[in-house]
Amino acid sequence: MVIKMSRRPIVIANWKMNKLPSEVSQYIQYVAPKLADYPNVDAVLAGQDVLLNTMVMAAKDTPIEIGAENMYWQDKGAYTGETSPQALADLGISKVIIGHSERRNYFRETDEMVNLKTLAALRNNVSPIIAIDEAVQLTSLNDHAHWIVNQVVESLKGVTEQEMNRILLAYEPTAAIGSGQAMTPLDAQKSLRIIRQTVADMFNQKIADHIRILYGGSVKPANAYDLLKQPDIDGVLVGDAALDATTFLELVSLADQAKRN
Ligand code: PGA
Repeated sequence: MVIKMSRRPIVIANWKMNKLPSEVSQYIQYVAPKLADYPNVDAVLAGQDVLLNTMVMAAKDTPIEIGAENMYWQDKGAYTGETSPQALADLGISKVIIGHSERRNYFRETDEMVNLKTLAALRNNVSPIIAIDEAVQLTSLNDHAHWIVNQVVESLKGVTEQEMNRILLAYEPTAAIGSGQAMTPLDAQKSLRIIRQTVADMFNQKIADHIRILYGGSVKPANAYDLLKQPDIDGVLVGDAALDATTFLELVSLADQAKRN
């Protein structure tokens, strides 16, 4: 008997610094009941900190999971303006994006900071969605693979085999983010394969087979199906297109169709 690998497809909206507290409930109330049609797909909405409380309240008793977009690596203390992972957990936040390309590029987040945040999220029972980016200036295939492998290795330092169950990885080439120009499904697949192989080398094949890896960067209904048809692409992390509730649902539906067979 062939045992089907059970990596649940996942669609994560990254609202970034968009949306107002007054806009949150309408979006969630529209999406939540329709998710019953897609019980095999995980739907996550990640919002900026000022929205999180409203998002958690609106998503209560629905299948929608709420995620944060960033956090600090200390549990609590005198770090004015930062977000405590302990507070995220207390609020009912189940996931947090760590090391998004915008944080790396605009806020100078380093691999070391990403690693510290990953460990802090795990310690506080929040699942990290670690974003692996790709610098625009990389030219040769070797540079490209080396860059990706290095980020995976650095961000997962000190993570135990057991904790790997709670980690998601998201490959988001900087040039594809917000440009309207997604990577081709085959190129994305190649990069995700490198990431999965790196996890196998660092841990073991079983963990690599189980970890969910997402693609992000200009995902929209026109390209989501072909991306999600790739064997190593388990989900998508979506910015612009997911600002609209109808489009978000469309992406969930496409994830369901692509992974059904
Ligand atoms: P985009 O953003 O879908 O608008 O390209 C993706 C992301 O940055 O997570």
